This record gives sequence, C-alpha cells and structure tokens, in this order.
Amino acid sequence: MRLTSATVALLSFAVTSTRAAADGPKFAFETVQLTVDDIANFSAIAPKPINPKTPGTVCKPRPECRAFPGSSDWPADAEWEKLGAALGGGALLKPVPLAAACYPGVYQDAATCTALVNSQTITRAYFADPLSLSTQWPAGNPCPLVANPTGECTQGGLPVYVVNATSVKQIQIAVNFARNKNLRLVVKNTGHEFVGRSTGAGSLSIWTQYLKGFEILPDYSVGAFHGKAAHAGVGLQAWEVHAAMAQNDIALVSPSFATVGAFGGFMAGGGHSTMISYLGLASDQVLSLNVVTADGSFVTASPDVNSDIYFALRGGGGGTYGIVTSVVVKAHPSVNITTANIAISSLDTGIDLFWTAMKIYFAYAGTIVDAGGIDRNYIYPYANITYFNFTTQFEFPGKTIEQVNTLLAPLTTSLTTLGVTMTLTPPKTITWASEVLGEGAPRRDERFSSRLLPRAVWDDPAKYATAFAALKKIVDEGGYEIHGTAMKPSRQLVGYPGADSAVNPAFRDTVMHMVIYDSAPSSSLRSVSSAEDLAARARLSTYTDFLRQVTPGSGSYLSEGDVLEPNWQQSFFGVNYPRLLEIKNKFDPWGLFWAPSTVGSEKRAVQSVDGKTNQNGRLCRTTA
Ligand SMILES: Cc1cc2nc3c(=O)[nH]c(=O)nc-3n(C[C@H](O)[C@H](O)[C@H](O)COP(=O)(O)OP(=O)(O)OC[C@H]3O[C@@H](n4cnc5c(N)ncnc54)[C@H](O)[C@@H]3O)c2cc1C
Ligand SMILES: *[C@@H]1O[C@H](CO)[C@@H](O)[C@H](O)[C@H]1NC(C)=O
Ligand SMILES: *[C@@H]1O[C@H](CO)[C@@H](O)[C@H](O)[C@H]1NC(C)=O
Ligand SMILES: *[C@@H]1O[C@H](CO)[C@@H](O)[C@H](O)[C@H]1NC(C)=O
Ligand SMILES: *[C@@H]1O[C@H](CO)[C@@H](O)[C@H](O)[C@H]1NC(C)=O
Ligand SMILES: *[C@@H]1O[C@H](CO)[C@@H](O)[C@H](O)[C@H]1NC(C)=O
Repeated sequence: MRLTSATVALLSFAVTSTRAAADGPKFAFETVQLTVDDIANFSAIAPKPINPKTPGTVCKPRPECRAFPGSSDWPADAEWEKLGAALGGGALLKPVPLAAACYPGVYQDAATCTALVNSQTITRAYFADPLSLSTQWPAGNPCPLVANPTGECTQGGLPVYVVNATSVKQIQIAVNFARNKNLRLVVKNTGHEFVGRSTGAGSLSIWTQYLKGFEILPDYSVGAFHGKAAHAGVGLQAWEVHAAMAQNDIALVSPSFATVGAFGGFMAGGGHSTMISYLGLASDQVLSLNVVTADGSFVTASPDVNSDIYFALRGGGGGTYGIVTSVVVKAHPSVNITTANIAISSLDTGIDLFWTAMKIYFAYAGTIVDAGGIDRNYIYPYANITYFNFTTQFEFPGKTIEQVNTLLAPLTTSLTTLGVTMTLTPPKTITWASEVLGEGAPRRDERFSSRLLPRAVWDDPAKYATAFAALKKIVDEGGYEIHGTAMKPSRQLVGYPGADSAVNPAFRDTVMHMVIYDSAPSSSLRSVSSAEDLAARARLSTYTDFLRQVTPGSGSYLSEGDVLEPNWQQSFFGVNYPRLLEIKNKFDPWGLFWAPSTVGSEKRAVQSVDGKTNQNGRLCRTTA
C-alpha cells in the first residue's frame, strides 16, 4: 500500500481510536476489509472518527429526517451506481417483494406465484430472499401473498436497496455510505424479528445471512475462560447450527425453529431455547464477537477488549451498537433430551375442571425448571371462547426416561386423582443435535405482548392465585391464546462470563415467560383502520396489565414483546438501560442504527403513512 496523505489520515484514525482492532479469530470473509485505496476515489464511503465535540465549535444544522426517495438529499442514481461498483460482486440489490409475482405488471409470473402461495407453511427458501419478513404487519403488509390479489403490491415499509454482504469490507462500505449520506439504515439477518426491527421504508438494508462459517476452537482462552469453543458466522440459521452440532458432537444454544438465525437478533436479545435451564440464554454463551461499528471500524469485543460494547452486544438488543459478523461461543459436551407431552381439552373435562387442572399444572413449573428442564405450554380458546385446549411439551436435557417419569409423577398423579382426562405422550429420548426443528417458519401476522413471571409468583400462594386469575381472565374473557415457556437461566447456572451481560435482569429470576398472542388482525391487516389497529393494541395492553400488576419490577422479553410496551426501557432492559444508553451514544453518536424500542431509539420515530404502528414511513427526529 502506498503511503498517501489519506493513508496517514486513516492510520492516525486507527491509532487515536480508543478501541483495539479486531484481534479475535476471523473467517476469510472478515479479512477482506476497507482500505485507503477503496476510499481514495469515493469519499462517500470513508469512515468517520468519533470526535468529542470541541467546545465552541458551531454544529452543522442537523437534518430533521433521514433521506427518503424523492427528498433532496437522497443520493442520485449515479451515486448508487458508484456504491454498487465499490461493493462489487453484484452485492447491491434493488429488490421487489417476492409476492410481486402475483400482481399485474412486469414482475408477474403465475408459476412463481403459485409456488409461493403453496409453500407458505414450509418456507426455508422464502427466507433466502433479501426483503422477506416472517411477520407482515411491521412493513405495512405492502404486498400480500395471495393467488388472486385485488389490491396492489408496493414496497411499503421494506428497504429500497439491500447489500447482500459477503465480506466485512462490504459492510464497512454500506455503513459509511449510510452514515455519510443521512440514510436510514437497517440490518437484517433472517427477518424473523416480530415488530419491524429488521425493515424500514426508504432504507438501505445490510443483509447478513450469507456470513456463514463454522469452526471448532478446541482450546480457546479469553478473559478467565479456557476451554472448548465454536467460532460461527453470524448468518447461520438454526438448522445449520444443529448440523454443525451433530458433526462435531457438541451442544450449542440455538433457536428451536429451523430458519431463525442463531447469532443475530436471537443472541443479541437473549435467546431462549430447549437448553435454557441447562446452559442458559444464547447471549450467555458468547465469549467474543467481531463487529463493524457506526464509525466504519471493525473491532473485536470480548472480556479483554472493548468490554463495554461486549457487555451491550450480549442481550442489549440487535441492530443497535454495530453489525456483528462472527461470534465465539462456548461449545458444550453433546447432550440428549427427554421429552414428554400432555394435552387436556375442556371438551373432555368440562370448563371448571379444565381450569382447576391448569392451576395445578402451572404451579408445577418451579419443579420443572429446578430440574433443569423447560416446558412450552399453550392454551387456545376456541369457537368464540366456548372451549379450551391445552398442550405442553416438557424437555429435559441430560435426563433419562426414568428420571422424567419420576419428575412428572406428582403432577400427573394429582391430575388423575381429580379425574382430569388427559392425553399423555410418554417420554422419549432424542439427541439435541437431531431435534426436528421443522422446515421453516410460516409467514405470520400475530402481535404479542409478554411478561417474565418471577419466582415470587410461585413462592407466595396469594401472588400465585392473583397471577393465575390474570392468566385465566386473559384467555377466557379476553379470548387471547397464551404461550408460556418455563425457564430458569439463573446467574448461578450461566456463570462466567454470561452472568455479567446486558440481558434483561428479570430473566435471572424467571420461572415462566408468558406470551399473549393477538392474532385478530392477521387476515385483514390492510382493511383495519389505524383507529381499529390502535384499539386492538390498547386492548392487548389492558389485558397484559393484569400480569404486569402482579409482577412489579419484572419485565418483558424484547424479542417477543409488544411494540407498544409501556415504559419499554425498564421493561426490556431493566436497570441496565442507563449504562446501555451511554454505550450506544459512545459508539453511535449519529444514531445510525435505529429500530423501534431499542436502546436510544427515543430520538427518532417513524411517521407511518397509514397512522399504524409500523415501519412504513419516514424516520424523523422527535423532541426527545
Ligand atoms: C418462528 C419463530 C420462532 C422463534 N423462536 C424463538 C425462540 O425459540 N427463542 C427466542 O428467544 N426467540 C425466538 N424467536 C424470536 C427471535 O429470537 C427474534 O425474532 C430474533 O430477533 C431473530 O433474529 P434473526 O437474526 O433471525 O432475525 P432478524 O429479523 O434478521 O434480526 C432481528 C434483529 O437483530 C438485528 N440483527 C440481525 N443481524 C444482526 C447482526 N449481524 N448484527 C447486529 N444486529 C443484527 C436486526 O437489526 C433486528 O433488530 C422466534 C421467532 C420466530 C419468527
Ligand atoms: C480511481 O480513479 C482513477 C481515475 O478515474 C482510476 O484510474 C483508478 O483506478 C481509481 N482507483 C480505484 C481504487 O478505484
Ligand atoms: C446473495 O449472496 C449469496 C452468496 O454469494 C448468493 O448465493 C445469493 O444468491 C445472493 N442472493 C441474492 C438475492 O442476490
Ligand atoms: C444420546 O443418545 C444416543 C442414542 O440415540 C447415544 O448413542 C449417545 O451416547 C447419547 N449421548 C449421551 C450424551 O447420553
Ligand atoms: C381440542 O382438543 C380436542 C380433544 O383432543 C379435539 O377433539 C379438538 O379437535 C381440539 N380442537 C382444535 C381446534 O384443535
Ligand atoms: C361470540 O360471543 C359473544 C358473547 O357471547 C357474542 O356477542 C358474539 O355474537 C359471538 N360471536 C360469534 C361469531 O358467534
């Protein structure tokens, strides 16, 4: 490399940076980085050091909103072309929604449309698309996938350009271009996020799904950790992680659905899985991360270097502090899990006995999690709330069939003694690596609210009675389906370095995470008015209040929460919020990374075109 004045500037930037460079293990795609030569001809992709403000300097007027197609500061076509050339490899995409194939116009293609419509519930391929989201309402449902559509297909709250990133250099280029050009930037890995944190109207999206790679580090040391670890590209999906586990005879924490990304938003927000009461949360596994920050630099964050951003990236939320390209996580000895199912229907028991059975069942959750297990339970109200079905699946890592039979015996005995008819699927043992995760997540349109229910609910009979009454009311009066996951990711369990992370502290005391589904708007999102939309959300929140009231000081899981969660800073981040905000402001003083109800997001809001709480509108400053 020739030493030009620009080189000197960049080198001095690196030298004066308060952060150490990326010194963690790297994949080949991470060794390709932005150089001085790349920016010599194209200042729009130059990094920008984070400078503390010099007293007395006059600040440039700050734009009120992010650039938007048609706004005076939106880059000209020639600049986008130049960006495409700098990225190389056809990485800059200007995609239209997949379902455009179903609509009259240049993209119409009957065969593609039919194939898409017919594969809606088995959609692994669907997530190989740069724009696709699992949940449709956050983008404003701009292009419904139906065989004979009556409305039109628009881009709505989906990005305008997408960078299909396969190198760190491309991510640096895109980050720098977005920051220098006042663009709205979004980060998408798989698009499974539920409230619209991986999409945005008029945005440039960085798509990390093809940052694949996997290697075992047999004897890895960082901080006070010494042991076996795995180095993984951030784009790996659960089905790929399970294959890697099987191949290497190890256990990792990975989502329980085939197409969810294991190391993107899942890990960044906490990440619960079958292993939660046995190994802890996904964010508890992380030993080191490589990350591109808002200034365009590429750094390692670990207990040894950049420990503040290391703290934030483990549970403090995705798309907020930087773009992770790979992670090093703990690799545990492989483990088998013993599973069993119970199903109960009020059609068989009658309504009163059904709820008596539920009260006994939920009370048993403390015993399940203390034994290192989980259960995923659901209560569905059917036929205009005239009857209820309950199902649950227990999963116990490292337990034999005999042990599980012994563990569940007190529960099943007390139910049988009361005369509760139930369908019991007897325990069976499978390997964690081979657990069937399904083909892929179906397109969906639910909304959620959620609450982390603490141990105190189980320890105090009066509290338990109130909490159970709240759950029952949510279902049998509210008509909502509920989904609980019994879990115990305690500090003692996760040890070092997991216990000191940004994850919602409420998780450490949780016995059950309870999700309340609102599927009412699913089929008719487009026709629902903004007033009806807000009324439905307010109703969901009112019912969730019954759980909030009995669990003061607890919180909600940001990856499965309500986009309108009241006091979300406390609810999603607890006492960590002020520290996280400080880290956010230090690493991203531009507010480049923005997503709804993430740390620091108060400063901007989307002015949605239809008045609903979605990402289809310009991102502008608020008075916060
Ligand atoms: C079918 C289904 C099943 C699920 N099961 C579980 C479960 O068992 N347990 C659980 O805890 N959660 C579960 N979730 C929720 C899941 O954890 C979140 O949706 C999560 O955000 C998905 O992460 P992703 O990277 O796959 O998705 P994306 O939507 O692509 O990203 C989610 C968020 O992370 C950010 N992000 C993505 N990649 C990066 C990156 N490389 N660097 C920085 N930020 C990034 C995005 O900007 C966005 O804010 C499930 C979701 C679905 C749809
Ligand atoms: C910069 O531009 C000059 C003149 O257009 C060209 O010769 C050179 O190859 C360019 N350099 C890079 C790194 O693109
Ligand atoms: C994105 O890049 C990957 C890896 O190069 C490639 O396989 C895939 O086809 C690309 N996707 C699109 C939509 O261009
Ligand atoms: C898990 O079960 C398989 C058989 O399915 C067995 O070969 C293996 O030894 C078991 N592993 C552990 C850790 O118990
Ligand atoms: C509810 O459970 C009963 C008993 O198993 C079953 O007959 C019925 O079909 C279930 N209802 C639904 C909608 O699944
Ligand atoms: C559902 O029940 C409510 C209250 O009993 C009633 O007002 C409503 O008409 C019912 N709806 C349907 C679709 O049956």
